[in-house]
Amino acid sequence: MTNSREIATQILTDISEKEKFFETAIFSNRGFNRLDKRDKAFVKLLVLNTLRRNGQIIKVIKKLVKNPIKRRDFFVLNLIKISICQILFLDIKEYSIVNTAVEISKKYKLEKFVNGLLRNICRKKKEILLNIKIESNLPRWIGNDIAKNFGGNYLKKLSKSLIEEPLIDIKIKEEYLKKRNWERILNGKFVANDIIRIENTGPIEDKPFYNDGYWWVQGLSATLPVKIITKIYKNNHKKDISVLEVGAAPGGKTFQLIEKGFRTTSIEISNRRTKRLKENLNRLKYKTKILCKNFLDMNFNEKYDCVLIDAPCSASGLIQKKPEILIKNKEINIKELAKKQNLMLSKSKYLVKNGGYIIYCVCSIHSKETTEIIEKFLKKNKCIESVSVDSEICNLGVVIKNGMLMILPDTSKVRGGLDGFFISILRKKNDH
Ligand SMILES: C[S@@+](CC[C@H](N)C(=O)[O-])C[C@H]1O[C@@H](n2cnc3c(N)ncnc32)[C@H](O)[C@@H]1O
Repeated sequence: MTNSREIATQILTDISEKEKFFETAIFSNRGFNRLDKRDKAFVKLLVLNTLRRNGQIIKVIKKLVKNPIKRRDFFVLNLIKISICQILFLDIKEYSIVNTAVEISKKYKLEKFVNGLLRNICRKKKEILLNIKIESNLPRWIGNDIAKNFGGNYLKKLSKSLIEEPLIDIKIKEEYLKKRNWERILNGKFVANDIIRIENTGPIEDKPFYNDGYWWVQGLSATLPVKIITKIYKNNHKKDISVLEVGAAPGGKTFQLIEKGFRTTSIEISNRRTKRLKENLNRLKYKTKILCKNFLDMNFNEKYDCVLIDAPCSASGLIQKKPEILIKNKEINIKELAKKQNLMLSKSKYLVKNGGYIIYCVCSIHSKETTEIIEKFLKKNKCIESVSVDSEICNLGVVIKNGMLMILPDTSKVRGGLDGFFISILRKKNDH
């Protein structure tokens, strides 16, 4: 276990110091790749739970450690975090947690400090647990915004749901839906007519029919923008409808647009993500026009029936699936993101035909990236009107604000809940 705990600490340090995402940090760690299945699962359990409980763990450290831990000792700080997480929140024997942490910290000559601190925490465990609120796990940049817009009770409810292991949604290609008993094959339950929900066990590539390209991973919330576009154009031949998708990788919405038969052009700025998008398209045996470019710098000769903006965002709606968001300081970042989202919207109004639609979506529930962006845009652009999201989609258990759709995690009637997500449907009445 010493090795697993050391590897978990390296991974946590990579995530916090190098701003790596969880998946990237795991797969780029050589030690992790050499572990057997059981130890890999243990490392993941340690890192994910420490990320989810980061706010509470920091409170404990601040209370019990007088002098702040020096920057060069960040590895030891992360070792302490992982150990505290095990002592307070995971059912693991205390002596093994403390002994292993002491052993690892010898390399840094901090074994006495680590030993004293962890033993103190073991002794005071009950008292500590009574005094660390679960809401502390949500950093201020998102916690304050949620409390202001949706209330303190919801904040508490959300904080509770974020420490649970998320489920995974799988979108089955329509052509294969009826051909197999997918619930049995994938060991899950349908939560929509084409989406099956499964437990997060083992690598996704090992699941049946993944390599055959019969399905892809996509949260139910994220399937709604294309479901909305399909409804808008339900009476049209889809091949006559041109859709420009902005921000396309890794591809969930592109695949849906292709499946429905829309004439799609997908733009993605990142080379690395475009490569992934193309690999996914190959696996699914889909083809479409992909442009690896910065949308904001591009010149267009054509106008589109519909522009789908899947904007880069803080991903605050996906905290359960990406708990690394909880340890990053997005306070400053969110202003930059909002600026970019705003520029994308402003540009898209020139690219859509009169009577055409702009669908703006983000996997965020932060007001600065959602309602505020749209309200400002509508105020400035009288040629654009907001269209209400239709009632069938609202039935998924959502909060509506001025016709916009905000899906809050843990408020949905769908079994297992939904990822946080925001959609606004905008229609261009005439030229600006
Ligand atoms: C939320 S993700 C898109 C998810 C994708 N639509 C899907 O369904 O799988 C946003 C994407 O926008 C891309 N992006 C950010 N700025 C961009 C720009 N200026 N032009 C084009 N793409 C951009 C990011 O690299 C990222 O892949």
